[in-house]
Amino acid sequence: MARTDVADAPATTGRDQLLDALDTRQAHIAVVGLGFAGLPQAVVIAQAGFTVIGIDTDGERMAQLDRGESYITDVPSSQVQHLRSEGRFRATTEPTALAQADCIVICVPTGIGADRRPALDSLEQALGTVASALRPPSLVIIESSVPPATTRRLARQFRLDGEEQVFVAHAPERIDPGNSRFGLRETPRVVGGETSASLDLAMRFYAQCGIETVPVASIEVAELTKVFENTFRFVNISLVNELAQIAEGLNVSAWDVLEAASTKPYGFMPHAPGPGIGGSCIPVIPFFLADVAERLGTPSRLIAAAEQVNRFMPKYVTQRAAALVGRRDGDLAGSHMLVLGVTYKPDQADCRHSPALPLVDQLIAAGATVRVHDPLVTEVAGLNTQAGLTPLTPDVVATADLVVVVTPHRSLDYQMVVERARCVLDTRNALSDLAAPNVVPL
Ligand SMILES: NC(=O)c1ccc[n+]([C@@H]2O[C@H](COP(=O)([O-])OP(=O)(O)OC[C@H]3O[C@@H](n4cnc5c(N)ncnc54)[C@H](O)[C@@H]3O)[C@@H](O)[C@H]2O)c1
Repeated sequence: MARTDVADAPATTGRDQLLDALDTRQAHIAVVGLGFAGLPQAVVIAQAGFTVIGIDTDGERMAQLDRGESYITDVPSSQVQHLRSEGRFRATTEPTALAQADCIVICVPTGIGADRRPALDSLEQALGTVASALRPPSLVIIESSVPPATTRRLARQFRLDGEEQVFVAHAPERIDPGNSRFGLRETPRVVGGETSASLDLAMRFYAQCGIETVPVASIEVAELTKVFENTFRFVNISLVNELAQIAEGLNVSAWDVLEAASTKPYGFMPHAPGPGIGGSCIPVIPFFLADVAERLGTPSRLIAAAEQVNRFMPKYVTQRAAALVGRRDGDLAGSHMLVLGVTYKPDQADCRHSPALPLVDQLIAAGATVRVHDPLVTEVAGLNTQAGLTPLTPDVVATADLVVVVTPHRSLDYQMVVERARCVLDTRNALSDLAAPNVVPL
């Protein structure tokens, strides 16, 4: 919006000015952090008619956007090019651009350290930069996932002589990359405001972007909702991974059990077994809740148990692999394994916390020679240096003692795989439709 000096300002409140700027879409929006969450969000805001500036510390990524190239699977380059040509989106590493912004949306990474404690350095750094650059009145929305009670603490740096001119809200990202049914516009946004004015402004912002909102009583409710949602999945996927192990011992199919249990019309929600839980959220954010719980003197036993199960899954898959190649003692020396899919989820080029990484480590530790194929990545941070990335050819498949399907990308030629493979361990039950006798589900 056009900015006036304080002395010239009409007698409207900062809240009213911002509401007006949002209603007329004259508000300038900055999105800080243009990754898997931030770039799709910036595109949706710009498509709603706002002028958006994306700010990110990664110069290479910003140069790509400047050339009209997207690095996020869910955002086609054509969308970036179109919005840039209409003057509604540009990207920069320059934080001074924040001075033009009326609304600042924070999507920087948050995570955990090696000690499993919350690591919020990027968020703290980004908010420090915002605090020194913004020109109130401003709406600051933290979309990054945070441990409960974090937003209000970090928002203190925005207080200007006690006057409310910086309106702070938390509206946690619920994006599910690759989900074509529930995108950003189809997923209601939980919104908590530091004050009722902050809540009103954040709600208006999302409404103007075409995103349904769920207002909640406080910022802390919004924070706890997000960490609970991720914990719910973490615990339930771990539970179903235990089921897979028990079913195997009983010589029944966990998938048959899940299909049957899913016929119950109430009180049951299916989760799928797999080689372990990956990504930047589900195996990470529950530790925000665990940390808070511990501080409150009510430590979470379930999160700790789910973590144990999750950590064991790569070892379990290795044990299954050894049994399938006839090594009951678990020694895989001299065997050749082909791992298909190294990203943490199908059709997404994101390897963060991928269970494929510890699985490859386990297979190699057991003595196997491991080759890895993934059509979506050309290099993988954290991949065991003894594992070679390989193209997927009939020969590569045929020379493996076992093919382990870890991440079932749609583009993989499974027909060729089952025709050429001696045996396939399908950790996601992705090949069941092929009804091939050499395919064994987890
Ligand atoms: N990826 C998901 O599926 C997903 C889903 C829901 C919520 N989230 C949450 O969204 C947040 C962002 O996650 P992501 O997956 O988009 O991360 P990401 O790593 O894909 O992207 C983050 C971007 O922020 C940039 N960045 C880091 N520090 C910065 C700083 N100080 N200033 C400006 N830019 C900075 C990085 O260069 C990167 O481009 C996290 O809190 C995460 O928990 C992610």
